[in-house]
Amino acid sequence: MKIVKTIAEVRAAVKEWRSEGLTVGLVPTMGYLHEGHASLIDASVRDNDRTVVSDFVNPMQFGPTEDLQSYPRDLEHDAALAEAHGADLIFNPEPDEMYHEGFSSFVDMTVLTQELCGLSRPVHFRGVCTVVSKLFNIVTPDRAYFGKKDAQQLAVIRHMVDDLNMPLEIIGCPLIREEDGLAKSSRNTYLNAEERKAALVLSQAIKIGSELVKGGETNAEKIVSAMKAHIEAEPLARIDYVKLVDAATMQQIPTLDRPALCAIAVYIGKTRLIDNFFTEDVKA
Ligand code: PAF
Repeated sequence: MKIVKTIAEVRAAVKEWRSEGLTVGLVPTMGYLHEGHASLIDASVRDNDRTVVSDFVNPMQFGPTEDLQSYPRDLEHDAALAEAHGADLIFNPEPDEMYHEGFSSFVDMTVLTQELCGLSRPVHFRGVCTVVSKLFNIVTPDRAYFGKKDAQQLAVIRHMVDDLNMPLEIIGCPLIREEDGLAKSSRNTYLNAEERKAALVLSQAIKIGSELVKGGETNAEKIVSAMKAHIEAEPLARIDYVKLVDAATMQQIPTLDRPALCAIAVYIGKTRLIDNFFTEDVKA
């Protein structure tokens, strides 16, 4: 497995693979890889002849008061994990390789980004869409892999690919949890022992909500209230949002009369964590 820093090196590798008629999968990441990322790499290795993992903490998707500086980084660990899972190339650019001086073109989406994380992180999806578009242009993958933990991000990227006629397939992969239920996230490393315990309220609330849906409850307010009550009982937790939205439009719905996403964002201490379930997965 190769680790490269420049766009030219990625292009050269992909050109060679293409000349041999090989297919290419891309797993975009911000590094500090965990089993959630590993499952994306596994899926790409299964579906494609070659797999590229991008490992880039994208400054553009962080707001001014967010955790860009403290975001965990460990390229050596990432390389070992990616190689063990069969990746062929890691693209680990410096910020100025991705955003040269005078960079001024952005991919901005006006739908799907006005709810959920888009409300509390106003610049986030513009940064995600811009960097992901650039990665698609650099790697030119046949398929790209994203986790369902970032359900809104997955919907936004699918929409962007459709809007802009990008010639690749987007594959959504299941959310991966720790043994005790906490959704895997690079940000879990911010939690101290007490916060780590408190963070279980997220997956517990998800369980409460999904069981209500499984039991036939269709009133969104009742589901959300039960979930909120559980989270609010934890002193270290502060709710950003608990919402039921239309899975296609990300708009809030009062009744579960269509495929929906139940998404939550909760601060545990200073760490903002997200979790979710799709009503269709629960009913199945
Ligand atoms: O999900 C992430 O880690 C990031 O948002 C992504 C898609 C790699 C873009 O920086």
